[in-house]
Amino acid sequence: MKRLGRVFLVGAGPGDPELLTLRAARLIGAADVVVHDRLVSPEVLDLAPATARRIPVGKAPRRHPVPQEEINALLVSLALDGLTVVRLKGGDPFVFGRGSEELDVLRGAGIPCEIVPGVTAAQGCAAAAGVPLTHRGLAGGVRYVTGHCRSDLPLELDWAGLADPDTTLVVYMGAASIDEIASGLIAHGMPADLPVLAVNNGTTPRERRLLARLDDVGRRAGQAGFSGPVLFIIGRVVSLYEQCPGALLVRLAADIEREAAHA
Ligand SMILES: C[S@@+](CC[C@H](N)C(=O)[O-])C[C@H]1O[C@@H](n2cnc3c(N)ncnc32)[C@H](O)[C@@H]1O
Repeated sequence: MKRLGRVFLVGAGPGDPELLTLRAARLIGAADVVVHDRLVSPEVLDLAPATARRIPVGKAPRRHPVPQEEINALLVSLALDGLTVVRLKGGDPFVFGRGSEELDVLRGAGIPCEIVPGVTAAQGCAAAAGVPLTHRGLAGGVRYVTGHCRSDLPLELDWAGLADPDTTLVVYMGAASIDEIASGLIAHGMPADLPVLAVNNGTTPRERRLLARLDDVGRRAGQAGFSGPVLFIIGRVVSLYEQCPGALLVRLAADIEREAAHA
């Protein structure tokens, strides 16, 4: 009888390969096959052995090249073929990543699987910009929300609950809806001049940041012509970025390479 393979649901972090966990790097380096999302950076995929199959199954907003059911079936069939499968997802597999849905299907099919957490985009992007997500006197908590609804249904957010200036709000997948989100928050009492940091391609050599006020973030983000993933950090903690805009607490891989070349 054929040996059963395993599936590792691995968080690839926000982009910089230096932000992978040791476990993630080790598993990628030993994979027979890597099934990866669109947001997994080429630098991270380069860690897979040259012999490993790489299968892209990424989804772009409003485009679903490989339906979720097909991804699930693919993972099951690769494991039934006896392969060691790394299912690589941007950030953390359990934060807006549908990792739990894949886990459900794999467990249902009797496939041994394991979760390897990753640095979620909120944490990576905030740390790289020198913005703490909580800070005594500025934010006593943090909330992660998605700005994207299933099948493009209207946004259904708990506006009254979210409009709390003592809590940092991080919006994932909000590039198309940030204007609506900002208006909803202001309508429910959030100060119009609350600072917002938009981070595009955070922790990669392509990173761009935009500092705005809540009442003009939609217009300015629209003008910025971002390409790639964008995350919005809304709250008083962003005032710390205003004081120190160049801060890079997590150094980008590109900076380290540049420094090494000049050493
Ligand atoms: C489908 S969600 C996946 C989130 C991922 N599982 C995580 O934990 O970060 C994709 C969203 O994550 C955010 N994101 C992921 N990587 C990012 C990055 N490097 N820079 C900015 N935003 C990022 C963006 O808001 C993007 O639209």
